[in-house]
Amino acid sequence: MEIKEIRARELNTRKFINEQIRKISETVGNGSAINALSGGVDSSVVTILGHKALGKKLTTYFIDNGLMRQGEPQAVVSLFERLGVPVKLIDAQKDFFDALKGIIDPEKKREAITQTFYKKVFGRLVQENNAKFLLQGTNLTDIEETVAGIKRQHNVFEQLGIDPQKAFGYMIIEPLIQLRKDGVRKVAKALGLPKSVYHRIPFPGPALSARVIGEVTPRRIKVVRKATAITEEELSDTGAFQYLAILHRDRVTGVREGKRVYGLQIEMRCWDSIDARIAEPTRLSHEILWRLAERITKEIPEVVSVTYNITPKPPSTIEAI
Ligand code: XMP
Repeated sequence: MEIKEIRARELNTRKFINEQIRKISETVGNGSAINALSGGVDSSVVTILGHKALGKKLTTYFIDNGLMRQGEPQAVVSLFERLGVPVKLIDAQKDFFDALKGIIDPEKKREAITQTFYKKVFGRLVQENNAKFLLQGTNLTDIEETVAGIKRQHNVFEQLGIDPQKAFGYMIIEPLIQLRKDGVRKVAKALGLPKSVYHRIPFPGPALSARVIGEVTPRRIKVVRKATAITEEELSDTGAFQYLAILHRDRVTGVREGKRVYGLQIEMRCWDSIDARIAEPTRLSHEILWRLAERITKEIPEVVSVTYNITPKPPSTIEAI
Protein backbone atom coordinates (compact mmCIF):
# COMPACT_ATOMS: atom_id res chain seq x y z
CA MET A 1 0.00 0.00 0.00
CA GLU A 2 1.36 3.39 -1.06
CA ILE A 3 1.48 5.86 1.86
CA LYS A 4 0.74 9.45 0.86
CA GLU A 5 3.19 11.72 2.68
CA ILE A 6 1.91 14.92 4.29
CA ARG A 7 4.83 17.35 4.45
CA ALA A 8 5.13 19.48 7.58
CA ARG A 9 4.78 22.74 5.66
CA GLU A 10 1.56 21.57 3.95
CA LEU A 11 0.07 20.08 7.10
CA ASN A 12 -3.25 21.51 8.28
CA THR A 13 -3.03 20.39 11.89
CA ARG A 14 -6.67 20.95 12.79
CA LYS A 15 -7.89 18.96 9.79
CA PHE A 16 -5.35 16.19 10.46
CA ILE A 17 -6.33 15.91 14.13
CA ASN A 18 -10.07 15.77 13.39
CA GLU A 19 -9.59 13.19 10.66
CA GLN A 20 -7.44 10.91 12.81
CA ILE A 21 -9.83 11.13 15.77
CA ARG A 22 -12.69 10.14 13.46
CA LYS A 23 -10.70 7.24 11.93
CA ILE A 24 -9.59 5.85 15.33
CA SER A 25 -13.11 6.07 16.66
CA GLU A 26 -14.59 4.33 13.58
CA THR A 27 -11.98 1.57 13.58
CA VAL A 28 -12.32 0.71 17.28
CA GLY A 29 -16.11 1.09 17.31
CA ASN A 30 -17.54 -0.38 20.52
CA GLY A 31 -14.36 -2.31 21.24
CA SER A 32 -11.37 -1.22 23.30
CA ALA A 33 -7.72 -0.46 22.66
CA ILE A 34 -4.43 -0.10 24.47
CA ASN A 35 -1.37 2.01 23.73
CA ALA A 36 2.11 2.34 25.13
CA LEU A 37 3.36 5.80 25.96
CA SER A 38 7.11 6.34 26.08
CA GLY A 39 6.95 10.12 26.48
CA GLY A 40 8.45 10.73 23.03
CA VAL A 41 6.62 13.07 20.70
CA ASP A 42 5.17 10.27 18.52
CA SER A 43 3.64 8.18 21.30
CA SER A 44 2.52 11.33 23.18
CA VAL A 45 0.57 12.54 20.14
CA VAL A 46 -1.01 9.11 19.67
CA THR A 47 -1.97 9.01 23.36
CA ILE A 48 -3.80 12.34 23.14
CA LEU A 49 -5.47 11.52 19.79
CA GLY A 50 -6.51 8.13 21.18
CA HIS A 51 -7.99 9.61 24.35
CA LYS A 52 -9.88 12.23 22.38
CA ALA A 53 -11.26 9.50 20.13
CA LEU A 54 -11.88 6.73 22.65
CA GLY A 55 -11.94 8.16 26.17
CA LYS A 56 -12.22 5.30 28.66
CA LYS A 57 -12.13 2.69 25.89
CA LEU A 58 -8.36 3.33 25.67
CA THR A 59 -5.93 2.19 28.35
CA THR A 60 -2.49 3.80 28.23
CA TYR A 61 0.57 2.07 29.63
CA PHE A 62 4.15 3.08 30.25
CA ILE A 63 6.26 -0.04 29.88
CA ASP A 64 9.30 0.18 32.11
CA ASN A 65 11.65 -2.05 30.14
CA GLY A 66 14.64 -1.15 32.33
CA LEU A 67 16.20 0.58 29.33
CA MET A 68 14.78 4.07 29.82
CA ARG A 69 16.65 7.21 30.82
CA GLN A 70 17.18 8.49 34.36
CA GLY A 71 13.86 9.15 36.13
CA GLU A 72 11.97 8.80 32.83
CA PRO A 73 9.16 6.37 33.80
CA GLN A 74 7.94 8.45 36.76
CA ALA A 75 8.41 11.78 34.94
CA VAL A 76 6.30 10.69 31.94
CA VAL A 77 3.53 9.19 34.06
CA SER A 78 3.28 12.36 36.22
CA LEU A 79 3.28 14.67 33.20
CA PHE A 80 0.35 12.86 31.57
CA GLU A 81 -1.56 12.64 34.82
CA ARG A 82 -1.24 16.44 35.02
CA LEU A 83 -2.66 16.55 31.48
CA GLY A 84 -5.62 14.45 32.65
CA VAL A 85 -4.52 11.16 31.04
CA PRO A 86 -4.17 8.23 33.45
CA VAL A 87 -1.16 6.04 32.68
CA LYS A 88 -0.49 2.60 34.14
CA LEU A 89 3.16 1.86 34.84
CA ILE A 90 4.16 -1.73 34.04
CA ASP A 91 7.41 -3.13 35.40
CA ALA A 92 8.70 -5.39 32.60
CA GLN A 93 12.42 -4.99 33.30
CA LYS A 94 13.04 -8.68 33.84
CA ASP A 95 11.28 -9.67 30.60
CA PHE A 96 13.58 -7.41 28.59
CA PHE A 97 16.88 -8.20 30.31
CA ASP A 98 16.14 -11.92 30.06
CA ALA A 99 15.41 -11.57 26.33
CA LEU A 100 18.61 -9.55 25.72
CA LYS A 101 20.91 -11.87 27.64
CA GLY A 102 23.98 -12.90 25.66
CA ILE A 103 22.94 -11.08 22.44
CA ILE A 104 25.61 -9.08 20.64
CA ASP A 105 24.30 -8.81 17.07
CA PRO A 106 22.43 -5.46 16.58
CA GLU A 107 19.60 -6.89 14.48
CA LYS A 108 19.06 -9.75 16.95
CA LYS A 109 18.86 -7.22 19.80
CA ARG A 110 16.19 -5.31 17.89
CA GLU A 111 14.30 -8.53 17.26
CA ALA A 112 14.48 -9.52 20.95
CA ILE A 113 13.07 -6.12 21.95
CA THR A 114 10.33 -6.35 19.31
CA GLN A 115 9.22 -9.82 20.38
CA THR A 116 9.27 -8.90 24.06
CA PHE A 117 7.19 -5.76 23.50
CA TYR A 118 4.69 -7.09 21.02
CA LYS A 119 4.32 -10.75 21.86
CA LYS A 120 5.02 -10.95 25.55
CA VAL A 121 4.10 -7.61 27.13
CA PHE A 122 1.43 -6.21 24.77
CA GLY A 123 0.05 -9.73 24.18
CA ARG A 124 -0.53 -10.01 27.93
CA LEU A 125 -2.03 -6.51 28.26
CA VAL A 126 -4.33 -6.91 25.27
CA GLN A 127 -5.69 -10.12 26.76
CA GLU A 128 -6.15 -8.58 30.20
CA ASN A 129 -8.10 -5.70 28.64
CA ASN A 130 -9.96 -7.84 26.17
CA ALA A 131 -8.73 -5.30 23.58
CA LYS A 132 -8.48 -5.86 19.85
CA PHE A 133 -6.34 -2.87 18.96
CA LEU A 134 -2.96 -1.39 19.76
CA LEU A 135 -2.46 2.27 18.85
CA GLN A 136 1.09 3.31 18.04
CA GLY A 137 3.06 6.23 16.64
CA THR A 138 4.96 4.74 13.69
CA ASN A 139 6.00 7.55 11.34
CA LEU A 140 6.97 7.60 7.69
CA THR A 141 10.73 7.65 8.29
CA ASP A 142 10.43 4.53 10.52
CA ILE A 143 8.71 2.70 7.67
CA GLU A 144 11.03 3.87 4.89
CA GLU A 145 14.21 2.99 6.75
CA THR A 146 12.88 -0.44 7.66
CA VAL A 147 11.62 -1.23 4.16
CA ALA A 148 14.91 0.00 2.66
CA GLY A 149 16.70 -2.45 4.96
CA ILE A 150 18.72 0.29 6.69
CA LYS A 151 17.52 -0.60 10.16
CA ARG A 152 14.57 -2.60 11.39
CA GLN A 153 12.56 -0.10 13.45
CA HIS A 154 10.99 -2.00 16.28
CA ASN A 155 7.45 -0.89 15.45
CA VAL A 156 7.10 -1.72 11.74
CA PHE A 157 5.24 -4.90 10.68
CA GLU A 158 2.69 -4.67 7.89
CA GLN A 159 5.14 -3.04 5.49
CA LEU A 160 7.39 -6.07 6.05
CA GLY A 161 4.53 -8.44 5.24
CA ILE A 162 3.92 -9.31 8.92
CA ASP A 163 0.23 -9.45 9.88
CA PRO A 164 0.06 -8.33 13.55
CA GLN A 165 -3.28 -10.11 14.01
CA LYS A 166 -1.68 -13.42 13.05
CA ALA A 167 1.67 -12.80 14.73
CA PHE A 168 0.46 -11.25 18.00
CA GLY A 169 -3.33 -11.57 18.14
CA TYR A 170 -4.37 -7.91 17.77
CA MET A 171 -4.59 -5.16 15.15
CA ILE A 172 -2.36 -2.10 15.06
CA ILE A 173 -3.66 1.41 14.36
CA GLU A 174 -1.02 3.91 13.17
CA PRO A 175 -2.39 7.47 12.90
CA LEU A 176 1.00 9.10 12.12
CA ILE A 177 2.29 7.08 9.16
CA GLN A 178 1.86 9.96 6.71
CA LEU A 179 4.04 12.31 8.78
CA ARG A 180 7.71 12.74 9.55
CA LYS A 181 9.09 14.00 12.85
CA ASP A 182 8.70 17.69 11.95
CA GLY A 183 5.02 17.12 11.11
CA VAL A 184 4.44 15.14 14.32
CA ARG A 185 5.93 18.03 16.33
CA LYS A 186 3.47 20.45 14.69
CA VAL A 187 0.54 18.20 15.62
CA ALA A 188 1.85 17.88 19.19
CA LYS A 189 1.93 21.66 19.53
CA ALA A 190 -1.56 22.01 18.04
CA LEU A 191 -2.85 19.43 20.55
CA GLY A 192 -1.61 21.65 23.37
CA LEU A 193 1.16 19.34 24.54
CA PRO A 194 3.91 21.20 26.45
CA LYS A 195 7.15 22.31 24.77
CA SER A 196 9.06 19.68 26.75
CA VAL A 197 7.15 17.13 24.62
CA TYR A 198 6.93 18.73 21.16
CA HIS A 199 10.54 19.88 21.34
CA ARG A 200 11.88 16.70 22.87
CA ILE A 201 14.80 15.07 21.09
CA PRO A 202 14.03 11.70 19.50
CA PHE A 203 14.63 8.59 21.58
CA PRO A 204 14.46 5.16 19.93
CA GLY A 205 11.98 2.39 20.72
CA PRO A 206 14.76 -0.01 21.79
CA ALA A 207 15.77 2.80 24.18
CA LEU A 208 19.24 2.67 25.76
CA SER A 209 19.82 -0.82 24.31
CA ALA A 210 20.29 0.94 20.93
CA ARG A 211 23.29 2.63 22.55
CA VAL A 212 25.11 -0.34 23.98
CA ILE A 213 27.56 -2.09 21.66
CA GLY A 214 27.86 -5.69 22.82
CA GLU A 215 25.74 -7.33 25.50
CA VAL A 216 22.99 -5.34 27.19
CA THR A 217 23.06 -5.99 30.93
CA PRO A 218 21.64 -3.97 33.86
CA ARG A 219 25.19 -2.92 34.76
CA ARG A 220 26.06 -1.70 31.27
CA ILE A 221 22.71 0.11 30.98
CA LYS A 222 23.49 1.89 34.25
CA VAL A 223 26.73 3.27 32.73
CA VAL A 224 25.12 4.45 29.49
CA ARG A 225 22.17 5.91 31.44
CA LYS A 226 24.49 8.06 33.53
CA ALA A 227 26.49 9.16 30.45
CA THR A 228 23.20 9.99 28.68
CA ALA A 229 22.04 12.15 31.58
CA ILE A 230 25.31 14.11 31.52
CA THR A 231 25.19 14.46 27.73
CA GLU A 232 21.61 15.72 27.77
CA GLU A 233 22.37 18.22 30.54
CA GLU A 234 25.39 19.60 28.73
CA LEU A 235 23.98 19.69 25.17
CA SER A 236 20.33 20.65 25.72
CA ASP A 237 20.86 24.27 24.67
CA THR A 238 22.86 23.52 21.51
CA GLY A 239 19.64 23.36 19.45
CA ALA A 240 20.91 20.09 17.92
CA PHE A 241 18.42 17.55 16.52
CA GLN A 242 19.61 14.72 18.78
CA TYR A 243 22.51 13.96 21.11
CA LEU A 244 23.46 10.73 22.79
CA ALA A 245 26.09 8.62 24.47
CA ILE A 246 27.12 5.13 23.36
CA LEU A 247 28.90 2.50 25.42
CA HIS A 248 31.53 0.57 23.48
CA ARG A 249 32.21 -3.09 23.89
CA ASP A 250 35.96 -3.23 24.36
CA ARG A 251 37.86 -2.12 27.38
CA VAL A 252 40.68 0.33 26.81
CA THR A 253 43.80 1.13 28.78
CA GLY A 254 43.56 4.10 31.09
CA VAL A 255 45.35 5.50 34.14
CA ARG A 256 43.79 6.07 37.54
CA GLU A 257 45.87 7.24 40.53
CA GLY A 258 49.07 6.48 38.63
CA LYS A 259 48.10 2.89 37.89
CA ARG A 260 46.97 1.15 34.73
CA VAL A 261 43.26 0.28 34.54
CA TYR A 262 41.21 -1.32 31.77
CA GLY A 263 38.27 1.02 31.57
CA LEU A 264 35.17 1.62 29.52
CA GLN A 265 34.88 3.82 26.47
CA ILE A 266 31.98 6.19 25.77
CA GLU A 267 31.31 7.68 22.35
CA MET A 268 29.36 10.93 22.14
CA ARG A 269 27.18 11.76 19.15
CA CYS A 270 25.44 15.05 18.46
CA TRP A 271 23.46 15.52 15.24
CA ASP A 272 22.12 18.31 13.07
CA SER A 273 19.21 17.02 11.03
CA ILE A 274 15.67 17.87 9.94
CA ASP A 275 14.04 14.44 9.88
CA ALA A 276 16.75 11.89 10.74
CA ARG A 277 17.08 10.65 7.14
CA ILE A 278 20.40 12.39 6.75
CA ALA A 279 22.39 14.00 9.54
CA GLU A 280 25.66 15.79 10.23
CA PRO A 281 27.68 15.89 13.42
CA THR A 282 27.16 19.25 15.13
CA ARG A 283 30.27 21.45 15.16
CA LEU A 284 30.56 21.54 18.94
CA SER A 285 33.26 23.73 20.48
CA HIS A 286 36.25 22.08 22.13
CA GLU A 287 35.19 23.71 25.40
CA ILE A 288 31.90 21.81 25.33
CA LEU A 289 33.59 18.55 24.31
CA TRP A 290 36.24 18.81 27.00
CA ARG A 291 33.66 19.56 29.65
CA LEU A 292 31.71 16.47 28.60
CA ALA A 293 34.80 14.28 28.77
CA GLU A 294 35.72 15.73 32.15
CA ARG A 295 32.27 15.18 33.67
CA ILE A 296 31.82 11.68 32.25
CA THR A 297 35.20 10.40 33.41
CA LYS A 298 34.78 12.03 36.83
CA GLU A 299 31.15 11.02 37.47
CA ILE A 300 31.45 7.51 36.00
CA PRO A 301 34.78 6.22 37.32
CA GLU A 302 34.69 3.04 35.17
CA VAL A 303 34.98 5.22 32.04
CA VAL A 304 38.51 6.21 30.97
CA SER A 305 37.93 7.38 27.40
CA VAL A 306 35.40 9.66 25.70
CA THR A 307 35.34 10.17 21.93
CA TYR A 308 33.19 12.32 19.62
CA ASN A 309 31.75 10.93 16.38
CA ILE A 310 32.61 13.05 13.33
CA THR A 311 30.99 10.86 10.67
CA PRO A 312 27.77 12.02 8.95
CA LYS A 313 24.74 9.82 8.23
CA PRO A 314 25.26 8.17 5.78
CA PRO A 315 27.51 6.20 6.12
CA SER A 316 26.93 6.34 9.90
CA THR A 317 23.45 6.09 11.44
CA ILE A 318 22.17 8.15 14.38
CA GLU A 319 22.03 5.33 16.91
CA ALA A 320 24.72 2.70 17.40
CA ILE A 321 22.71 -0.45 16.71
P1 XMP B 1 19.07 5.73 12.82
O1 XMP B 1 19.88 5.19 13.94
O2 XMP B 1 18.38 4.68 12.00
O3 XMP B 1 17.88 6.52 13.54
O4 XMP B 1 19.79 6.72 11.96
C1 XMP B 1 16.99 7.39 12.88
C2 XMP B 1 16.07 8.01 13.91
O5 XMP B 1 15.17 7.01 14.39
C3 XMP B 1 15.37 6.80 15.79
N1 XMP B 1 15.33 5.34 15.95
C4 XMP B 1 14.22 4.67 16.30
N2 XMP B 1 13.01 5.11 16.63
N3 XMP B 1 12.30 2.87 16.94
C5 XMP B 1 12.03 4.19 16.96
O6 XMP B 1 10.91 4.58 17.30
C6 XMP B 1 13.50 2.35 16.62
O7 XMP B 1 13.69 1.14 16.59
C7 XMP B 1 14.51 3.31 16.28
N4 XMP B 1 15.80 3.19 15.92
C8 XMP B 1 16.27 4.43 15.71
C9 XMP B 1 16.72 7.39 16.13
O8 XMP B 1 16.81 7.79 17.48
C10 XMP B 1 16.79 8.54 15.15
O9 XMP B 1 16.12 9.68 15.60
